[in-house]
Amino acid sequence: MKVAAVSDIFESAAQKCAADYGIPKIAKDPLELINDPEIDAVAICSSTDTHADLIIAAARAGKQIFCEKPIALGLDRIDAALDAVGKAGVKLQIGFNRRFDSNYRRVHDLVRDKAIGDLHILRITSRDPSPPPIAYVKVSGGIFLDMMIHDFDMARYIAGCEVEEVYTVGAVRVDPEIGKAGDIDTAVVTLKFTDGVIGTIDNSRRAVYGYDQRVEAFGSLGMAESANRRPNEVRLSGGADVREDLPLNFFVERYTESYVTELKEFVECVIGNRPTPVTGHDGRMPVAIGYAAKRSLDEHRPVAVSEIK
Ligand SMILES: NC(=O)c1ccc[n+]([C@@H]2O[C@H](COP(=O)([O-])OP(=O)(O)OC[C@H]3O[C@@H](n4cnc5c(N)ncnc54)[C@H](O)[C@@H]3O)[C@@H](O)[C@H]2O)c1
Repeated sequence: MKVAAVSDIFESAAQKCAADYGIPKIAKDPLELINDPEIDAVAICSSTDTHADLIIAAARAGKQIFCEKPIALGLDRIDAALDAVGKAGVKLQIGFNRRFDSNYRRVHDLVRDKAIGDLHILRITSRDPSPPPIAYVKVSGGIFLDMMIHDFDMARYIAGCEVEEVYTVGAVRVDPEIGKAGDIDTAVVTLKFTDGVIGTIDNSRRAVYGYDQRVEAFGSLGMAESANRRPNEVRLSGGADVREDLPLNFFVERYTESYVTELKEFVECVIGNRPTPVTGHDGRMPVAIGYAAKRSLDEHRPVAVSEIK
């Protein structure tokens, strides 16, 4: 399978991408590609507010679909998109790339295979090196739908069951401007899973030492941990201190392998006519959990995910 064409409402961006990667065709209007009978599958990686409409158009055109997270910020829009996908009988894979990181996949497999016995506690730490611009904060959907959404997905993926209830404590500790924009920048969410497992997720918009991405699964027979990845793993011990590299700085560096693998697996599912590994339901649930986490913060109480309609 080859990349046949690229679209961007800014034609110059499409032109640059086509030139950089040797893509033979560009279009300003994505519908031109979606309705092109020569094209089998589309990857929707435009701004979040365009995803649902483009998924619906692509499904109606019979295309196999990869779409970046989140499907949409509103559950009604997500349901409309999933409905169109269901009716058309096409494949949909959502861009929760961390599932394709080899370390997280190993933790997932160890939990699934009971190598740590019964899972008791799942801990996820996810801290960005620096906050996004305030203009982005205002339109991003907030920390739960923009940032922690990946961790909600990771929680479901590793625990292998649904999140039943969440309780949130949050604050503005990094930048008061984020608070003025109506968001928080520091949060801890506790999760109760349907099978009784307990989880915690902590997020910060600023970790001075870089992108802090760690997962720990603790169970009756042991623990599986995934630590930060560094550009180089050598540790230098001297008389005054012990030194090692800071973690890889942000998501593009840290998750390069996972972005490549998720698209490879999507293409293989299309060619082999197999179900995709991250489904529409997997795309919908972290958004519902995100709304539950926000309601818990606002109302200072545990919120069942089933309360979010
Ligand atoms: N999985 C991840 O780790 C990850 C990381 C970053 C972004 N994302 C997601 O990817 C999406 C894009 O994020 P971004 O940061 O690259 O945004 P961006 O704004 O930098 O890029 C979006 C691009 O889409 C184009 N675009 C907007 N509307 C369009 C339309 N109707 N038709 C064609 N092109 C259109 C824009 O011109 C722009 O070039 C978002 O949904 C975001 O949540 C996912």
